[in-house]
Amino acid sequence: MNSTLFAEVDQYIAHLFAPEDEALNSTIHSLHVKGFPQHSVSAAQGKFLHLMALLVRARRILEIGSLGGYSTIWLARALANEGKLISIEYHPEHAALARQNIARAGLAEKVEIITGKALDILPSIETSNAPPFDMIFIDADKPPYTEYFQWALRLSRPGTLIIADNVIREGKVLDAQSDDEKVQGVQRFNAMLAGCSQAQSIILQSVGAKEHDGMAIAVVG
Ligand code: SAH
Ligand code: DHB
Ligand code: MG
Repeated sequence: MNSTLFAEVDQYIAHLFAPEDEALNSTIHSLHVKGFPQHSVSAAQGKFLHLMALLVRARRILEIGSLGGYSTIWLARALANEGKLISIEYHPEHAALARQNIARAGLAEKVEIITGKALDILPSIETSNAPPFDMIFIDADKPPYTEYFQWALRLSRPGTLIIADNVIREGKVLDAQSDDEKVQGVQRFNAMLAGCSQAQSIILQSVGAKEHDGMAIAVVG
């Protein structure tokens, strides 16, 4: 694989279309400083998420897996004036860092980071009787992706856009014998999504700044 060329072209695209400002740069830097995983989406992927949120005129966005709030910032910047984004993060230190980064980006009013396991928090969002989300971004731990999607459907309306990160995993999804629980999690998710009658879906694979991977895109019917 010509990964140097892919990375250089990704940089070229990001430089033209997804330049990072102070808030985004500081967010990536804050993850380095804390020694947290560099699992944020790339700049170009962040811009893609931003465009998707604009496309659906998102007023309510749900994110599962905040890390340092990098994708959160790209998404929240696409919200209309009264728009809100709820992001669920399991690790309290990640959640605290995300809150700081979001405040620095001037988005504290629009974004709520809820600390807890997504599968514990999602039922309480449903029972709070909040209106359905316009867009949902799934990017937490990979084994329960199928369950996250089932919850996403319950919190959706027809037309809701659901995007799931990391569903190709350097092509390891092709290996039916894989014993990697992350790979198994997204294999189960991809098979479920392909057969799901409640949504129309595709996977876009990606190369470049991040390892070879892909995002699943689903529109709820
Ligand atoms: N969306 C972020 C990256 C998220 S990385 C970005 O692109 O900027 C995945 C995050 O999911 C990590 O911070 C991890 O702590 C969190 N996570 C792991 N298990 C979780 C769970 N059960 N519920 C919620 N978050 C979880
Ligand atoms: C992993 C998780 C992510 O969300 C990501 O974008 C890349 C890697 C991981 O857990 O390996
Ligand atoms: Mg991810």
